[in-house]
Amino acid sequence: MHRRLTTPGALAAASLLLAIPASAASHSPGAPGIGDPYYPAYGNGGYDVSHYDLRLKYQPANDRLEGTATLLARTTQDLSRFNLDFLLDVSEVRVNGAKARFATSGQHELQVTPSKPLAKGTSVTVVVRYSGVPSSEQAYGFTSWLRTPDGGVAAGEPESAWWWFPSNDHPLDKATYDISVQVPDGTQAISNGTLQSTSSRAGWTRYSWRSNKPQATYLATLAVGKFDVTTATTDSGIPVINAYSKDLGDIAGAARASVERTGEIADWLTDYFGPYPYNALGGYVPNTTTGYALETQTRPFYSPRQFANGSNTSVVVHELAHQWYGDLVSVSQWKDIWVNEGFARYAQWLWSEYEGEGTAQEIADYVYASRPADDPFWTVRPGDPGPENQFHLAVYDRGALALQALRNAIGDEDFFAVLKGWPRKYAHGNASVADFRKYAERVSGKRLTALFDTWLFQPSKPGAPAAREASI
Ligand code: ARG
Ligand code: ZN
Repeated sequence: MHRRLTTPGALAAASLLLAIPASAASHSPGAPGIGDPYYPAYGNGGYDVSHYDLRLKYQPANDRLEGTATLLARTTQDLSRFNLDFLLDVSEVRVNGAKARFATSGQHELQVTPSKPLAKGTSVTVVVRYSGVPSSEQAYGFTSWLRTPDGGVAAGEPESAWWWFPSNDHPLDKATYDISVQVPDGTQAISNGTLQSTSSRAGWTRYSWRSNKPQATYLATLAVGKFDVTTATTDSGIPVINAYSKDLGDIAGAARASVERTGEIADWLTDYFGPYPYNALGGYVPNTTTGYALETQTRPFYSPRQFANGSNTSVVVHELAHQWYGDLVSVSQWKDIWVNEGFARYAQWLWSEYEGEGTAQEIADYVYASRPADDPFWTVRPGDPGPENQFHLAVYDRGALALQALRNAIGDEDFFAVLKGWPRKYAHGNASVADFRKYAERVSGKRLTALFDTWLFQPSKPGAPAAREASI
């Protein structure tokens, strides 16, 4: 599915063979991928972005998006050129103020050659002017831009940025964001963080949002459409902005009855995960037909389908749990997806217990018993599921079973100390499944290699969980 990539080493060797002058040869191209084994072309090498400033204009009538992205970055090697991940049409690129050459390559690569090579360890400002119709663009045969009857939504994992801004598209490179979008009067633009300002002129309204803490590219979101917006403040003082499409039909009540509990649920989660890490909260429900939700930072995306059968606070718990497990602490590589999904699912089990709808242990027993050993569910290894199974139900359900097994092995006190300590230890950074095992081993003083291997890495149904400490 993904094209083979030339390694930076091979490119450097090729430059030497071509006998490029020494000054240029010491500067090599940044790698076209950041080195993720599941997605070799995602992200890029040679630089690190600290801030994205997006100043955009979007017309719902024809799905046209245009504007300027300004990236503040720092080089991590001497660079002759570098890549961004992007799909829309680019009209101009400037690097440190000077016009740069650019070309497209592969499925989603924008190759930028600055007029002068860039030295390692220096600040770089990259300005990209662009336009396009996001819904008309595909990569690998799919799109993460969700066109709606009155606008569009950027929400997808592991990729969604390509359809609306140029980026270093991998969770390893987090940055802060200012996202400012002009839309026709009467239409809203919803994004991450705090709403800094709105202003209207000549039939267009500009919404300016700020996400002031490091944020992975796939967690940046934009939704344009006609929304009803509610505002509130949590007991802990965090402002909440929720947005509901005016076009939700008969699920509108169930959606609001769920998402309006965002502040309450976020406060409840702090007992397990520690202080809420950001300065804004909320959620939005656009009029899409998709089936998933996404933990877009500070303001998760919910599909109407989540509320088809009535209220669903469980999905709100899931997406808000990701604010700690996924957003504050992000995967190092996409194979580490369990450090997101296993915990967000387990938070749903804790919520069920809190709501009096069954304890985490009861749900674990049920999930375990309801799937016979020959169910293909057990062949998926949540600790390294493969890109094709990254969001397989086993990553969630068996992933949460692994946490129940851990809880029973190390006891409630250490288990809940681990749950709360982890987001603080890796705050605003990245971590792997092995990092989590080591951390749980340190807190509990127990060796956990066998437990992790059994529950996360064996392609078969683990034996019946041992008698539980709590029930002995
Ligand atoms: N992290 C999301 C969730 O569990 C999953 C998104 C799956 N992505 C997709 N395009 N289906 O809430
Ligand atoms: Zn999730």
